[in-house]
Amino acid sequence: MVCPRDWPEPVVRVQSLSESGKPVIPDRYIKPPPDRPVFNSSSPDDDINIPVIDLAGLTSDDLTLRESTFKEISAACREWGFFQVINHGLKAELVDGVRDIWREFFHEPMEVKQQYANSPKTYEGYGSRLGLEKGAILDWSDYYFLHYLPPPIKDHNRWPAQPSSLREIVEEYSKEIVRLGKVLLEVFSINLGLKHDYLQKAFGGDDIGACLRVNFYPKCPQPDLTLGLSPHSDPGGITFLLPDENVSGLQVRRGDQWVTVKPAPHAIIANIGDQIQVLSNAIYKSVEHRVIVNSDKERVSLAYFYNPKSDLLIHPASELVTEETPALYPSMTFDEYRLFIRTRGPQGKSQVESLKSPR
Ligand code: OGA
Ligand code: NI
Repeated sequence: MVCPRDWPEPVVRVQSLSESGKPVIPDRYIKPPPDRPVFNSSSPDDDINIPVIDLAGLTSDDLTLRESTFKEISAACREWGFFQVINHGLKAELVDGVRDIWREFFHEPMEVKQQYANSPKTYEGYGSRLGLEKGAILDWSDYYFLHYLPPPIKDHNRWPAQPSSLREIVEEYSKEIVRLGKVLLEVFSINLGLKHDYLQKAFGGDDIGACLRVNFYPKCPQPDLTLGLSPHSDPGGITFLLPDENVSGLQVRRGDQWVTVKPAPHAIIANIGDQIQVLSNAIYKSVEHRVIVNSDKERVSLAYFYNPKSDLLIHPASELVTEETPALYPSMTFDEYRLFIRTRGPQGKSQVESLKSPR
């Protein structure tokens, strides 16, 4: 399949729609009734949250604490596919700084942002839709997508030049996220009973991929009719999400409920992507999530995708394939998988499920 050069329809910036001050949203953003969010003043999940894990325990001299931290991560991976980490080693000023600088970028004049308008060929730059289906119902968000690794595809000219410190701050943040990605892959490998460097090697050693999507969810006059981001699982390895601490919006599927994530101060949310589901032969599952919007606050989030090298074959670890637990997925490169996803846009968990070997 050849990837088209351009979008099937003229691009509309959600931020412009929001700033127009119209009290109704265009039909293109209205979800069918069963897909709309339900806003309860006191929802039964008020006390439920994804686990918060203190990563300081991983390097503690106290062996019991170290073991219990590994166990907490193991349980979170199996039961939620999502957790928040604190004491992750990123300074509070860095996480606040990188979020603030992107907020500033989205408040630059439209002409400045338009210089970076993206195309579906690489998705890199300023964008307002995922997926190419003509006439699709769209999500209430704009975004900025950029590549950090592998080095040959990092191009600073495709990163915003303004605010002037953006590139430097994003570099620093990226380096830290890649470090954290290595730490978690090692913990996951050990927790799965694999060699400590199994997953890092399966991802390509130092030749991994890393890319950032900064999501901007403008205020929405009719938040009960639309979504900021439709239900999906993340296609890559691990996602590190830096949420907006002032505004909630991320919801994680738990059975037939949507649990709203309450971010801990300066926490980073980690979640399992489809490639880890494949490598672990579904011991860990990538979990569906979505974003709701609201009428009085915009929201900014940074989703960092830590991915396998794009041309390596990813398949269930042979150590995890037994007669009772046969391989659930065929081998596929991340390049092939991503092309498939990018053509279709957010589709719940149907993609990784559709890969399942027929049996
Ligand atoms: C994503 C994502 C959640 C959020 O970008 O893949 O799930 O809170 N973002 O913005
Ligand atoms: Ni996601």
